Amino acid sequence: MKSVDDFRLRLGKKELVPIMTGGMGVDISTAELSLVAARLGGIGHISDAMVPTVSDRRFKTGFVKEKQKKYKYNVANRDKSVVQFDLVRLAEATKLHVGRTMEAKQGDGLIFINTMEKLTMGSPRDTLRVRLTSAMDGGIDGITLSAGLHLGSLALVEDHPRFRDVKFGIIVSSLRALTLFLRKSARLNRLPDYIIVEGPLAGGHLGFGMDWVQYDLKTIVNEIHQFLKQENLNIPLIPAGGIFTGSDAVEFLEAGAAAVQVATRFTVTKECGLPEKVKQEYFKANEEDIEVNLISPTGYPMRMLKNSPAIGAGIRPNCEAYGYLLDGTGNCAYIEAYNRELERHPDEDTLSVKDKTCLCTHMRNFDCWTCGHYTYRLKDTSRKLPDGSYQILNAEDVFKDYLYSTEHHIALPAA
Ligand SMILES: Cc1cc2nc3c(=O)[nH]c(=O)nc-3n(C[C@H](O)[C@H](O)[C@H](O)COP(=O)(O)O)c2cc1C
Repeated sequence: MKSVDDFRLRLGKKELVPIMTGGMGVDISTAELSLVAARLGGIGHISDAMVPTVSDRRFKTGFVKEKQKKYKYNVANRDKSVVQFDLVRLAEATKLHVGRTMEAKQGDGLIFINTMEKLTMGSPRDTLRVRLTSAMDGGIDGITLSAGLHLGSLALVEDHPRFRDVKFGIIVSSLRALTLFLRKSARLNRLPDYIIVEGPLAGGHLGFGMDWVQYDLKTIVNEIHQFLKQENLNIPLIPAGGIFTGSDAVEFLEAGAAAVQVATRFTVTKECGLPEKVKQEYFKANEEDIEVNLISPTGYPMRMLKNSPAIGAGIRPNCEAYGYLLDGTGNCAYIEAYNRELERHPDEDTLSVKDKTCLCTHMRNFDCWTCGHYTYRLKDTSRKLPDGSYQILNAEDVFKDYLYSTEHHIALPAA
């Protein structure tokens, strides 16, 4: 009976434990969590979602206050096109978050950063270039391009001295998305170093429509595997989404996957950035408490707990402080939805916006409880305490459970 530990991921000259902890914005996959994965010989992701905010929390910097002060005059204005990120500050924040994390790294593993294209930040190309460049300057081992097709992303940094040294990977949910990306990267003679195939049971945003139920990870991984073989492309494939036990992972590894990316099981560890109260909500959730909805202004479906405070909230858009989802013209689907409700109910003190949510604010405040499909199984990974709450886990224990477990057994934490 094999366990994950019988396999290794080869990435260039490196040999790694084939477990990657997935990027979870905004600072749900903390530096601490990524450092555990790296120390144990795997790959840990931090996320570059809202890094100025994350830096303010981590290092007591004042990036958000400074931006908010600069654009305070615009708060009541519906037009947010003046709101722009100061690129020097954005670089500083990113270098701080990445640099400090890399300095703390121990062990043989690697630390990657998850970079979402959908964070358009009022000026998609310029801000993405700065985010990628400063992560590379900060010493990151690898960059996982996510939440978007990233057709122009590699070209933004092709002149960076570390362009061929940093590992680049892409998250795709279909062969079609992958072939579009490969065509672009072939032109730069810079194929991805790994491909994460994310299925419909993942947390966060989904690369599927509301018909996600009709798709299945194994089928997509197979299809992409066959394609890569046909094209003689030897790029490590890393499935993600619903891989809940070490044995789930072994099934993929035996079928030719190079590693697995996992996230949900780590949301209830002490290293995860979610507040303790929210971790308990994840533990308590039953299958019927989880939904995939369309309230994210990005337009992608997103999976979350139905009792997330973000659902139905009607707060004023906070773009002057945040504004990570503003497109190149200063629009965000939440601003439109909010203003529509404001016009319908001009005299009400509290608005409720049902179709969209102010994702920046709610992710920043840990009020959008995005989660993987199998969150309802988390209660089986811990012990219920006398007060009815669940024992918070250690990331190291969860990592090792993935590594050594067989027959879908899940080791409970020491009481
Ligand atoms: C709480 C949470 C937040 C997530 N946030 C992001 C994100 O910001 N960017 C991203 O590419 N993937 C995100 N994901 C997806 C994970 O990185 C990962 O690919 C996926 O959830 C793996 O499936 P699993 O959770 O079933 O193990 C998130 C997942 C969770 C559970």
